[in-house]
Amino acid sequence: MSSSLLSPLFRRQLFTSLHKVPTRRAFQSTLSIMSEKLKPAARVAGRRQDVWSIINEAASASPIQPIVNMGQGFFGYNPPDFILSAAKSALDRVECNQYSPTKGRPRLLKALADAYSPFWGRQLDPNTEITVTTGANEGMLSAFMAFIEPGDEVIVFEPFFDQYISNIEMPGGKIVYVPMHPPKEGALKTLSAGEWTVDFDELEKAITPRTKMIVLNTPHNPVGKVFSRSELEKIAELCLKNQIIILSDEVYDRLYYTDFTRIATLSPEVEKITLTVGSAGKNFYATGWRVGWLIGPPELIQYVSAAHTRICYSSVSPLQEACAIGFEEADGHGFWEQCIADMTAKMERFTAVFDELGIPYSKPEGGYFVMANFNKVQLPEGYKFPKHVEERPRDFKLAWFLIQELGVAAIPPSEFYTDENAGIVEDYLRFAVCKPDNVLEDAKERLRGLKKYLKK
Ligand SMILES: Cc1ncc(COP(=O)(O)O)c(C=O)c1O
Repeated sequence: MSSSLLSPLFRRQLFTSLHKVPTRRAFQSTLSIMSEKLKPAARVAGRRQDVWSIINEAASASPIQPIVNMGQGFFGYNPPDFILSAAKSALDRVECNQYSPTKGRPRLLKALADAYSPFWGRQLDPNTEITVTTGANEGMLSAFMAFIEPGDEVIVFEPFFDQYISNIEMPGGKIVYVPMHPPKEGALKTLSAGEWTVDFDELEKAITPRTKMIVLNTPHNPVGKVFSRSELEKIAELCLKNQIIILSDEVYDRLYYTDFTRIATLSPEVEKITLTVGSAGKNFYATGWRVGWLIGPPELIQYVSAAHTRICYSSVSPLQEACAIGFEEADGHGFWEQCIADMTAKMERFTAVFDELGIPYSKPEGGYFVMANFNKVQLPEGYKFPKHVEERPRDFKLAWFLIQELGVAAIPPSEFYTDENAGIVEDYLRFAVCKPDNVLEDAKERLRGLKKYLKK
């Protein structure tokens, strides 16, 4: 637009604003107001460096390259062909590239209802008892957003999946931690992950009139424990007595190597207070697809759906369609049995190196993580750790040492405990075995390098 088209008054204002030179002080105070305003909210600021960035940084600084990454729980192989081809063909369909209904695509809701009804012992209603979410993680955020008011308390067992913490804090929830205890002889011999225990007196003492929810995870990450029926009954009894909503994170529900009970199925009363969380990412080896769901009574599910609608409206359409086909066809392909057989074989293949070295571990009852106890490993006297590792518990030093000296990445589990209870797991490291067999063999070969550091 030519300046002659502007009104004389506007031209004058424009000229003054362009030519006004602010004083140095005014400029600095504008800058400081700006930087105040540019500050992030407390919920994302000021956290200490998290375990993932410490481990990734250590991995890139290691003289041994490439690192064998046994740390993060992503699969090192693709979903099976029947699921991959379902995803590819969904992309060719017009309606699969558009918004899905906020509660989930009808085909996926029906497939989930059909797949889970046998476990519930009755027909689940796909329209009122299931809601699809963007991965289990956003599903849990939606559940906390739906039920937590500022100051409400949520009980979380340690070690915890780290996302629970910020998901509970975002709506203003207060977390009350209850530690799980490793077996007393965990440093001496390999025992079942089922030997990690909850002290039920500690759990009962953690309950207050403000306790609104409890988060349960079975099969458990990182411990590999599957809560027994009697443990679940005790938890359920406390929750019924105190009217506490149970959020049962069962994302590893197809990977169990012992009897697996779903807490929602204990009784109709328990079902009424339980939200069960699932993940297609974990079920179908596709963690990047971001498809999850919650199953629960309509009185609870409707509010999870309402929160989900406000958080992300709906979830990825073509991949919901692929997951629907995945559930429809899984039984026909014998897929669920295959999952268990394959992961058991990987677990056995990998843990053989710990048997060989005499390093005890918690033999997983479910999931794809294994916790090994490195108490016997003697870190060399005077070994130099960077400051941010030096000030963390011994498991961080062990993880750093393994990356630098052997080129193997594992996760220090004290990250999943409060500082107060971090010492409980300072000798443990978590390994993810959902990797191709050649990667597992590589990791084993490198771990044999620990021989010279083992206490006699
Ligand atoms: C215990 C647990 N819950 C939930 C999730 C997240 O699942 P999703 O990838 O479906 O969000 C994970 C992922 O590692 C997990 O370990």
